[in-house]
Amino acid sequence: MPFIINGGKKLEGAIRLSGAKNAATKMMVASLLTAEEVTLENFPNIGDTHITGELCTMIGSNITIAGNTATLATPDIKTARVASLSRRNRIPILTMGPLLHRAGYAEIPFLGGDQIGPRPVNFHLDALRAMGAEITVKEDRYVASAPNGLHGTEVYLPYPSVGATENIMLAATRAKGKTVIRNAAKEPEVMDLIVMLTAMGADIQVAPNRVITVSGVPKLHGVRHTIMPDRNEAVSFACLAVANNGRIKVQDAHPDHLKAFLSALTKAGGGYNVEGDGIVFFRREPLKAVAVETETYPGFMTDWQQPFAVVLTQASGISTIHETVFQDRFAYAVDLNSMGADIRIVTKCMGSVSCRFRGEEHPHSAEIVGPTSLHGAPLKVRDLRSGITHVIAALIAEGESVIDGIEELDRGYEKIDERLRALGAAITRVESS
Ligand code: EPU
Repeated sequence: MPFIINGGKKLEGAIRLSGAKNAATKMMVASLLTAEEVTLENFPNIGDTHITGELCTMIGSNITIAGNTATLATPDIKTARVASLSRRNRIPILTMGPLLHRAGYAEIPFLGGDQIGPRPVNFHLDALRAMGAEITVKEDRYVASAPNGLHGTEVYLPYPSVGATENIMLAATRAKGKTVIRNAAKEPEVMDLIVMLTAMGADIQVAPNRVITVSGVPKLHGVRHTIMPDRNEAVSFACLAVANNGRIKVQDAHPDHLKAFLSALTKAGGGYNVEGDGIVFFRREPLKAVAVETETYPGFMTDWQQPFAVVLTQASGISTIHETVFQDRFAYAVDLNSMGADIRIVTKCMGSVSCRFRGEEHPHSAEIVGPTSLHGAPLKVRDLRSGITHVIAALIAEGESVIDGIEELDRGYEKIDERLRALGAAITRVESS
């Protein structure tokens, strides 16, 4: 299914953020830890929550969605053998802890998600094994059991992985004893999950030095929780405003979640005002080249470099992006180059952040020469964040772009075409016959 976009129109107005995809899907899994009802407000109606809904329903959840409120109740586990899902994302591995607690057994298909590097789950498996899980890897799935239940342990994560931190926390909430996670992720989405789990009766302490301590409790109860706004959407819309030289108010955006981005954006000549219920983004002066390096929170997030690259195609000079979280997240550069951008991908580290990829042949740095005027082109969405990058580039380009494979974009951005049209964008969804 394609989008047809006619670029070059100035965009103005307000756009409200959806609930965060990367919090919502984990919270749906957290609901499996209790037999009681869990209500999630500000629930994003996107492909990824639908895939996760299919997963939870298979396991035994009854799910109702009314507007932006989702209610999930899993009185019994119907099956702990999760067959392959109609579409794949990264979430099934997170059900291992809840299933081991409630069924003593779990069978989980291999994961999907964006192709942005190898994305192993060794941290998840090592930690769950240390908590008492016996896990074997079959040809297309993980098979786990916990004959003596899960127990607390000390885990040092070799890298502060978001998914592994969440997986260990979910498993630890109902494990016997105390689990200490060192070098844990502290992304706002992880913190929001902690807020929800605590309201369900979990005992979780967060120390400032990346240490999370979970003292297991026998039972968790139902909860009503409002999901934090999606900060990746916030950055996408902010980049659109600045690249397009428009003026967009991003309602519900929190400056606290975006500090590293706001700093890079202002250095590049972008501007913002925190006003009432959101942040207004615009271009403050002619754009100029900057250097950014992606990092874990509170650094410049890896999901932000793709839309920001479009801003940098409009900046004078040579900008650099050093991607230190994923090995291979620049596939979109070829697409922007086909629209007239001048981006060169290199394997060397372009910056000073100590990077796990130094000396290896991963294409993890980019040089962007600007400004370049972009023209419309036929594009195919590769993954979620490159998809929004295509849309932003097409909206500032002269002429028509046809972007195919937008199902991938629908995985993370709710009704993106409708919301962009309200800002003045000429974007049409062509339903396949
Ligand atoms: N890693 C390992 N072993 C593991 C786990 C991670 O080597 O067992 C490595 C990864 O390969 C990567 C690094 O650690 O190099 C960080 O990965 P992390 O586990 O933090 O990423 P994730 O949990 O798979 C989530 C988001 C991503 C976001 C990253 C970084 C979800 C569903 N996904 O991925 O979001 O980019 O954290 O913040 O929460 C997106 O929304 O488009 C997206 C890709």
